[in-house]
Amino acid sequence: MDDVKINTVHYNDTVVRQFSIMAVVWGVVGMLVGVFVAAQLAWPELNFGVPWLSFGRLRPLHTNAVIFAFGGSALFATSYYVVQRTCQTALFLPKLAAFTFWGWQLVILAAAISLPLGFTQGKEYAELEWPIDLLITAVWVSYAIVFFGTIGIRKVKHIYVANWFYGAFIIAVALLHVVNNVSMPAGMMKSYSAYAGVQDAMVQWWYGHNAVGFFLTAGFLGMMYYFIPKQAGRPVYSYRLSIVHFWALIFTYMWAGPHHLHYTALPDWTQSLGMVFSLILLAPSWGGMINGIMTLSGAWHKLRDDPILRFLIVSLSFYGMSTFEGPMMAIKTVNALSHYTDWTVGHVHSGALGWVGLVTMGSLYYLVPRLFGRTEMYSKSAVELHFWLATIGIVLYIAAMWIAGVMQGLMWRAVNADGTLTYTFVESVKATYPFYVIRVVGGLLYLSGMVVMAWNVLKTAGAGRAVKVPVPALNAAHA
Ligand code: HEM
Ligand code: HEM
Repeated sequence: MDDVKINTVHYNDTVVRQFSIMAVVWGVVGMLVGVFVAAQLAWPELNFGVPWLSFGRLRPLHTNAVIFAFGGSALFATSYYVVQRTCQTALFLPKLAAFTFWGWQLVILAAAISLPLGFTQGKEYAELEWPIDLLITAVWVSYAIVFFGTIGIRKVKHIYVANWFYGAFIIAVALLHVVNNVSMPAGMMKSYSAYAGVQDAMVQWWYGHNAVGFFLTAGFLGMMYYFIPKQAGRPVYSYRLSIVHFWALIFTYMWAGPHHLHYTALPDWTQSLGMVFSLILLAPSWGGMINGIMTLSGAWHKLRDDPILRFLIVSLSFYGMSTFEGPMMAIKTVNALSHYTDWTVGHVHSGALGWVGLVTMGSLYYLVPRLFGRTEMYSKSAVELHFWLATIGIVLYIAAMWIAGVMQGLMWRAVNADGTLTYTFVESVKATYPFYVIRVVGGLLYLSGMVVMAWNVLKTAGAGRAVKVPVPALNAAHA
């Protein structure tokens, strides 16, 4: 009990509040663009013949908005909150933390302007041109200084496992961003990659896959390891497993990128290496999922009437599902069917909507009342409603894409006895139409859940008054 004491650390929560609010705002915006591009795939006339409303320009706007603006803001908010609580100290260099907020919002604004105007490096998830890349680098280095600086001045010896995941996410994203964006500027908004041909593709998918592994996974696992024990009121199921989970996951992810380049000019052995490491990745992923879900042992009944806990636990079920599906899709013969089809898009969104989206929403629902001096969200039934809108939305979205994807793959490979193709491409497009409409409906439900959340957050923030509450220090291992 000697490290359990009451202290009066005044945490720096201004930046946490700002990032939390912006996560909700960008969530609504990014998903609105998602629904719009989904509708364009069903009804192409919706581009209205305007270049900056065309699918090719709005799609990267959607991916950048949901991953970096919505997901990124949530990661900044939660990591700044968690690192202060688990280190029992205020943020290191709060002015630099403020710079990360304004700098990141500027990056998002620059993306929101430059992508519809058609400026792009043509690399998926790394579309932004070099001046914006430089700003991202400055913000990210500042983020690393604030985060690791806070760990450096911690008041407890132990570094809680959530910080390991956040820390790995910060370091890996810095490395990925810098290496993948090395380029030669040819004007203010034009550049050429330093890599060419198959090397360029390999660097890009080393980046792309690890963007999934570190941006969309490791950081959110940091959230999972803090907010699930907190909301459930139980310690992490196995602390030892969380450490094994950490090292196994970060080691394995780095090698799996080539599964995005099966049957390309990439050397065959590299593709097989990517496939094998993807299969191995199932083990640490499921280890983490089991650790999170089992944290509820002895408290399962809480799921019945705690919608926030339900967000967090259901997110882990989707994490388990997409990390089972991913390794299967990485098997070359399976990928021969799935690649280029909507199955990939279904896989992406079972991870993105189910895992990333739900764990973020659950964590923000935990955070927002505490940040605005209230004991709980303004409306619990609105949280409940959000949960069901989101869950039904995800199921419609991913089931439609799975069916469409497998159907497309089978139609494209079907051949007649004389060796000619059974279906023309346009026949597969026509057959996909109803599934695209179902996706729009699923997306609309998911988006409306997010709008309900925005209303609830606004009400909670308005009804409360920000207060600085002295917080009892916990043993960091159980924080
Ligand atoms: C209302 C919710 C959403 C809808 C309706 C939606 C819709 C879409 C659509 C139509 C596409 C383009 C698919 C294609 O090119 O065939 C797409 C791509 C993508 N979306 Fe979403 N999305 C939503 C939410 C999200 C969220 C929350 C995330 C991430 C956290 C996300 C991440 C992505 C990614 C990574 C891609 C690129 C997929 C790929 O290249 O295979 N989306 N989305
Ligand atoms: C064990 C974990 C995972 C493995 C082995 C894995 C594997 C794969 C494979 C094989 C593909 C298809 C590549 C292709 O045919 O082009 C893919 C695509 C993708 N996965 Fe996963 N996946 C995993 C987990 C996840 C999770 C949890 C998320 C999201 C949070 C995710 C997001 C994506 C995205 C965004 C793409 C599309 C990339 C693109 O083409 O733009 N994956 N993944």
